[in-house]
Formats: sequence, structure tokens, C-alpha cells
Amino acid sequence: MSGQAGRSWGYWTEVKLAILQGYLPAFLRASKGKVNKFVYLDAFAGEGHGISRVTGQSFPGSARIALDVDVAGGFTKLRYFEKEEKAQELEQRLRSDYPDRDIKVYGGDCNETIATALSELRSVRWAPTFAFLDPDGMELAWETLKLLAAHKIGYKKRPGSAEYKVEIWLLFPTQGLIRMLALDPSKVMPPHENAATRLFGSDAWRPIYERRRNNKCTAADAKEEYVNLMRWRLIKELHYAKTHAFELKNTRGGTVYHMIFATDNAAGDRIMGDLYRSAAKAIPEMRQEARDRQRGQPALPFDDVDFADAGYQYEPPWQPPE
Ligand SMILES: C[S@@+](CC[C@H](N)C(=O)[O-])C[C@H]1O[C@@H](n2cnc3c(N)ncnc32)[C@H](O)[C@@H]1O
Repeated sequence: MSGQAGRSWGYWTEVKLAILQGYLPAFLRASKGKVNKFVYLDAFAGEGHGISRVTGQSFPGSARIALDVDVAGGFTKLRYFEKEEKAQELEQRLRSDYPDRDIKVYGGDCNETIATALSELRSVRWAPTFAFLDPDGMELAWETLKLLAAHKIGYKKRPGSAEYKVEIWLLFPTQGLIRMLALDPSKVMPPHENAATRLFGSDAWRPIYERRRNNKCTAADAKEEYVNLMRWRLIKELHYAKTHAFELKNTRGGTVYHMIFATDNAAGDRIMGDLYRSAAKAIPEMRQEARDRQRGQPALPFDDVDFADAGYQYEPPWQPPE
């Protein structure tokens, strides 16, 4: 691995990346033998690695996790997206560490470069394609999801035969959204409203915000409603068959973000559901370890925070408020 220092990651990032590391081989295994090309898209690719805040150790980020999957020959085409100032360095490092792989890094705003990347991938749009969308906050635009969902439409020549869209796994910036859509309306500026509309692809978030602002629902309810709205739109607007949402919390039990998965594939649905259940089981111990390290000494187990994680159970999204 190259020597450049990575970003410091909370334990929840390790959970997220462990799920990715569990899912990608299963994604390839599910299509093994049927096709020989697989595409991986990483819209907010990062630096290739980060430093665990818990152990201080460097560990691979999504870019390398995808390259290291060793099932069915691995991903054949890997397309990364990063800000202009970081893209070239990422591409150089990945190309030098993985010289035989088909890698390309698009520099700039991924919401703009995604269209070019997808048009360059048009000849392989029949190939199973997985997209990881891992922004820092509110950077993801609904338009990007729309383009991804449309990318493979029509790849089967026989009309009426079942098609699988690009599988999507996205970070939904719950904490950032709640902070931006503040309870005090004088703090909600037009750029905040525009960012929320850009993320959802509609202003359907407004009725939820209005209910919260008028104290007709709790903060926790509003949070659930926003996540639900995203899932609802992935199904109703982009026509995904199934979605799953998994909540990641910080060491004090506050929500950081949700990871939302959208698929048309029954195997993908089952595997991600299983991975979410396993992650939910592992989290209390990981969180405790992270808290112990923060304090520099072991604490009594779960001594001052209610860590009653309900585990993971699939629930379908419901009709959002209008
Ligand atoms: C949370 S980090 C991604 C971490 C990465 N997935 C990993 O596992 O190593 C988000 C990354 O997105 C990049 N980024 C932010 N806005 C972007 C945009 N509009 N287009 C492309 N990349 C962007 C940031 O520079 C940052 O490296």
C-alpha cells in the first residue's frame, strides 16, 4: 500500500466497509458461470485507504476492497469518481498497485461525470454492475441515481425478459440532513432546501419537515420518514424491486447515517439482508471497543448509554406523508 496518510475513520466506517467486503464477493459469486464481465462503480472513491480511529491501523477503503475481491476473476472494469484535486493521485496509485486491471478515475463532480462514464460503459451494460455511493454528506444528487437506474434498461434483446438494473448501495446522510433542515426555520436557508431537493430529486421532504417543525412528530420519527422517503422513491420512481436501510450510530448512540441498498435481484436482497443482520449483531462489541479506546481504559459494558440495538429486520417502505 502507498504511504500517503489516509483519513481517520470512526468504527462505523469499519462496519460499513466490512459490509461492502462481505457483499462484493457474493455479488460476483451470484453471477459466476453466467457471464465473464463485472463492473464496479465507486462514485465517492476516497483515497484508497483510511486510518482506524479505534486501532490507529491503516485499512483498505472501498477502492481497494473492490480490487481485492478474488471471486470469478474479480471485477473486470472498475470506474472511480473523485474530486479533481485527488483523482489523478488515486488513479496513479491504483494503477501502480494493480497494473493488470482495467481502472479509470474520473476527476470532478461525480454527479456530472457519471453520464460520460456510463456512456463509455454502454457496450458492457449487460454486465452485472454494482455502484457504491459513499459521500461525506449531502453531495449525492438524485439525478445520479436516476442515470444509474436507467443505464441497463433494454440490455436484454427479447422484450419482456427480466432485467437487472445497476445495484446501488448508497450512504444516506441522515445526520447532515437533520442538521440542515433545522427545527428553527430561520436557520433553514435556500441552499439547504436546494440541497435536500437535489438529494431526493423532489421536494417531497417538505411535508416531513413541516410535521417536525410543527411538533407533530418527534425528531426520531422525522429521521425515519426521511430514510423511508428515499427508499420509497427508489422503488416508486426508479422501479427497484427491494430496498434495505441500515442505521449506523456513533459511540454515543447518535445516528451518523443510513446505508441504503436497492436491488432487483432476489439473491442480492437476501445476501444484503443477512449481512445487515450480522453487522447488527457485531456492532455492540465494536462500539464498546471504540468507546474503551477513546477513554483509554475499558469501561463497564454499556455503562452510560442505551445501546439496545434492535438488530436488523426488513420492513418495506410506507407511503410518505403528503
Ligand atoms: C466518505 S469519502 C469516501 C471514502 C471511500 N468510499 C473509501 O471507502 O475509502 C467521500 C469522498 O468523496 C469525495 N467527494 C466529495 N464530493 C464529491 C463529488 N461531488 N464528486 C466526487 N467525489 C466527491 C471526497 O473527496 C471524499 O474523498
